[in-house]
Amino acid sequence: MSRPHAAQARLVEHVQRLGEQHPPIPLESVDFSVRDPRLLDQRFGHVLDFMARVELEVDRNVLELLTLLPDPPEVDVFFYRDVWQPQEIQHGRILDELQVRLGRSYAETDLENVGFKLRLLGMLSHVPAVQDVSRMLYYLTGMATERSAVLAYNLLHDGLVDMGEQAIAETVIVPIKRQEPGHYAFYQLSARALWEQLAAWQKWLVRTLRSFSFSPVGVNNPEQLADFGDVMTTLGIADDTQFVAQVARVETELLWAREHGLPVPDYVLSAFRGAVDAARARAGLAA
Ligand SMILES: [Fe+2]
Ligand SMILES: [Fe+2]
Repeated sequence: MSRPHAAQARLVEHVQRLGEQHPPIPLESVDFSVRDPRLLDQRFGHVLDFMARVELEVDRNVLELLTLLPDPPEVDVFFYRDVWQPQEIQHGRILDELQVRLGRSYAETDLENVGFKLRLLGMLSHVPAVQDVSRMLYYLTGMATERSAVLAYNLLHDGLVDMGEQAIAETVIVPIKRQEPGHYAFYQLSARALWEQLAAWQKWLVRTLRSFSFSPVGVNNPEQLADFGDVMTTLGIADDTQFVAQVARVETELLWAREHGLPVPDYVLSAFRGAVDAARARAGLAA
């Protein structure tokens, strides 16, 4: 199904502008000087590691997209290939370089394994009406991911400033977090336009699949779920339903508007709670 012309033109323009205004951050622009590497590692090392991994895994995300959408709209390809991937990979390289300079190891990434559920959905997406369902799921995931990233980078930025790590805050986190809202806007514009065009059965399928498949950003196994819980705890949002509600704001509005008063879908809330629980359980085992 093609988008209405006006929405399509707006998206192309948005992606063009993102590409022009936000070239990938040059490594030379970063000031890696750190006042207290040991303390920084202790406090935020695992957060940097988690973020570096997720950003670097953009290369696997591109493979997932190629699998999920056999016949994607041109503007989607334009976005992920020319703008999104080059920006995200650079975020990953910079964060990874920072953690190594703190004496940590490089992030352990999975750049090639596309999960079974995605491959199955990709096979079904050879039927165009199903591909629209997959595409909607992709935009919803994109929105939740980018929103989580912006919120997390804001908190990390404030934490670094509090520690007096001004150089890193200003030359690593500020430029990175400046690039995330444009990604979020792309997914949001796309999601809103597509949702309008879906038939009732497609909407039902999106709600159903989403309820079963939602997971927090960067979480593909139980270990990573606990890692994410640790990140939430360090950033002070382990029990923050406001944070979760913000991550799912547009998703709640689009998919669940009929369920009046629902601040955040249950599956989103329980996924984030699950991460915190997994982190606490792991810490308990280690103690
Ligand atoms: Fe990023
Ligand atoms: Fe992003």
